[in-house]
Amino acid sequence: MTPGALLEATGIVKRFGPLLANDVDAFAVYPGEVVALLGENGAGKSTLCKILYGFYRPDAGEIRVSGRTEAITSPRDARRLGIGMVFQNFSLIPALTVWENVALFLPHLPWTISPTKLRRRMSDLAQRLRLTVDPRLPVGRLAVSDQQKVEILKQLLGGARVLILDEPTKELAQPEVDGLFDTIAELRGDGYGIVFITHKLREVTRCADRVAVMRQGRIAGTIEGQQISEPALLNLMFGGAARIETRARAGAPGQIVLELDRITTRPAVGATVLRDLSLRLRAGEILGVAGVSGNGQRELADVILGPRRPASGVRRLWGEDATGWSVARTRESGVASIPDDPLAQGAVSGLTVRENLVLGSGRQYRNGLGYNWPRLQAAMDASAARLRFPALAYDQRAAVLSGGNLQRVVLTRELAHQPKLIVALYPTRGLDARGAWSLRALLGEAREAGAAILLVSEDLEELFDISDRLIVLRDGQIAANFTPDKFRVETVGAFMVGAAHAA
Ligand SMILES: Nc1ncnc2c1ncn2[C@@H]1O[C@H](COP(=O)(O)OP(=O)(O)OP(=O)(O)O)[C@@H](O)[C@H]1O
Ligand SMILES: [Mg+2]
Repeated sequence: MTPGALLEATGIVKRFGPLLANDVDAFAVYPGEVVALLGENGAGKSTLCKILYGFYRPDAGEIRVSGRTEAITSPRDARRLGIGMVFQNFSLIPALTVWENVALFLPHLPWTISPTKLRRRMSDLAQRLRLTVDPRLPVGRLAVSDQQKVEILKQLLGGARVLILDEPTKELAQPEVDGLFDTIAELRGDGYGIVFITHKLREVTRCADRVAVMRQGRIAGTIEGQQISEPALLNLMFGGAARIETRARAGAPGQIVLELDRITTRPAVGATVLRDLSLRLRAGEILGVAGVSGNGQRELADVILGPRRPASGVRRLWGEDATGWSVARTRESGVASIPDDPLAQGAVSGLTVRENLVLGSGRQYRNGLGYNWPRLQAAMDASAARLRFPALAYDQRAAVLSGGNLQRVVLTRELAHQPKLIVALYPTRGLDARGAWSLRALLGEAREAGAAILLVSEDLEELFDISDRLIVLRDGQIAANFTPDKFRVETVGAFMVGAAHAA
């Protein structure tokens, strides 16, 4: 006999104004099952999960937990019923220790149960989750992957039997993804139900027992076990869209566009120090940067773009000493930058999409005291079309966009003016499979048109696919250099985690 569902939702409808964000006939999670939720950007995956977690109230529908109909009106209700969710943006408090973060979250304040007992339960569970950090450390000092495990730990100690993970691998490098999947396998073995959202098909085929594919708010289909394959998933998601290939480099690279000469940065709170870092990037070349995030990627981008002045060393752009240039001057010289955290650095959530699109290039669209909106919109439509993205929702506030749709806005804006140097930090993060292919194809086209591109990514397959050369960034230094004939996951991966060192 198959055991009953841990969580079951039927007839879920959710509208945001005129938009039908969810119209889900049936969705269920059984004990010991990993359900992947897949679907194009804006399909309604996060919305469905937020409904299950009591973050949104559905307009219609029923949710049953272990067979009983329940009214889930808040995350508090959901947690009481054993439903836990880890959001993309964690809700940890960076200055508090691991132990304090967990204690704060639990429904019983620590003094109502014995701290010793709680500590023991916590360390047992931490061991199972392969969370090996010292619980006395402030959470802000942990790697993203460990912070994520603290979040999971928190939910499990709080009594979750169903764990919902919204794009948990978005910011993880391959070795960290492996660690997370080990944790998930462990939990599945213990009878937990896991729901996880991802855009990476490889992860689905690897770890899901069942996949529900969403399309325009509905569940377009479900695939189970042996039937799960990339073509089957793509077919359900996009109706069998063909993969968009990135053309290989045509000619030899041209002049040196960017040169960093022995750059060292000052120590700063929460930043990685770049140490004696030198690199050159030519026109018509894509330089891939591999590494576990937090090893100096953001600082490298900041030095190139200008907000971070090096303590020593020289930055040259097109042969000119640009060490002292401001961000504005650097941008005007033809440098585009795709930040790693669009909400924190690339977009303002209270503004509309249209207003966000004018940010950073306002001068070009100035019209007396206002802006020439039609001209801006024409330029952005053209840019979105080059990226093969669907039309942008200009009047939406950025705050209500889905994760991938917000990323599309930032990409459309940054790539609108044929930049000559593109600094792209994790540009395909959050994009659906088709969006990621188009973005890579566009970078290939920009290369052909003579742009120099620095591509930072955690996804080795992506880097191998389009880079002409690759460096590994580790602890603020270049740990290794690779040419395409040496692109291999094991070799590059070993340098990323510090298991290998340059001879
Ligand atoms: N609070 C809100 N107000 C208005 N519209 C919203 C709100 N939340 C989500 N939406 C809209 O609902 C749709 C579904 O969004 P959702 O975040 O569920 O998509 P998703 O499948 O998670 O996409 P992604 O893969 O990009 O994360 C989107 O069009 C989004 O703009
Ligand atoms: Mg989402």
